[in-house]
Amino acid sequence: MIKARIAASGSYVPETVLTNHDLEKKIDTSDEWILGRTGIRERRIASKDESTSDLAVKAARRALEAGGISAETLDLIIVATSMPDMFFPSTACIVQDKLGATGAAAFDLSAACSGFLYALSVGEQYIRSGTYQNVLVIGAEVMSRLTNWDDRRTCILFGDGAGAVLLSPSKSDRGIASVHLHSDGSLWDLICVPGGGSAIPPSEKVLLEQLNTIRMKGNETFKVAVRNLEEVALQALSADNLSASDIDWLIPHQANIRILKAVANRLKFPQEKMIINLDKYGNTSAASVPLAFDEAVRDGRINEGDTLLFLAFGGGLTWGASVVHY
Ligand code: ACO
Repeated sequence: MIKARIAASGSYVPETVLTNHDLEKKIDTSDEWILGRTGIRERRIASKDESTSDLAVKAARRALEAGGISAETLDLIIVATSMPDMFFPSTACIVQDKLGATGAAAFDLSAACSGFLYALSVGEQYIRSGTYQNVLVIGAEVMSRLTNWDDRRTCILFGDGAGAVLLSPSKSDRGIASVHLHSDGSLWDLICVPGGGSAIPPSEKVLLEQLNTIRMKGNETFKVAVRNLEEVALQALSADNLSASDIDWLIPHQANIRILKAVANRLKFPQEKMIINLDKYGNTSAASVPLAFDEAVRDGRINEGDTLLFLAFGGGLTWGASVVHY
């Protein structure tokens, strides 16, 4: 069976930085509270004329450049996002147009903060089956436009960004070993954007009550996140006959430093082997894992030959893990 490998990656974050001190001026909060409870110092905010596809395209171009392939050779583009440019067409089709990827099929995938891992698993299957040679998997979000800037419990958490990986057939036994996905729809209301869709269509009430922004039961989400991330990490390790000590780098979804520390403790995994950038970018939802991965590849921490564990958790609820022999 052909394995899929991550042949190249790219990422992009908008220029505007919103620090905790900036937020202190807008809402009743403090740098001390945000840093202590979440580990976040600042986040990036897309400019008015930047949409999710713009962020995705910048990350995608960097991945294509790193992989040394042209957009025309792409077979498939998958964009994982919770904040598409519009309901339809898909953001992936808009990305296809902006890239000039004329030979590719394109679609979006929605699994909130786990979106990248879900998309990775779909892309990987097309390579393993021999259907496609070059699949671009992108996580891209403009979370700042889903955020209620009056809600201090959530607006401190999120940021904008994009990450992309190029999947190609592996010529050796290295590559994506497995991807493990889970969801529990009975917990859909722990994190949701209730209004603006078909259940509660756009109306004056939706705008007045900001039902088109994120609602989150943070405390309950926190507890489920730690438990589920530990379980799925162990599942991914055991599927490949590995233990935590075999992993060179853990690349987790960047939701909260306290969640990451709790998961590391449970797995007896050293924190210095975790790629953490949430201090700079906050929670960028589906973008967070490929963004953290790409930064660590580019600054030389992650190298070919390393064994990686990707971990993600988000709305749905959804969660997943993947072992990659990079
Ligand atoms: N500044 C100051 N005080 C605050 C702030 C703030 N920004 N936000 C809340 N508080 C206050 C609350 O009002 C509360 O005060 P009270 O007891 O007087 O009412 C107190 O701080 C504690 O609030 P909690 O919500 O219980 O705080 P908690 O310790 O749970 O931290 C947090 C909140 C950071 C959101 C945490 O619960 C968390 O990270 N949860 C997980 C979120 C997550 O993982 N999301 C991932 C998926 S996101 C997605 O899929 C899109």
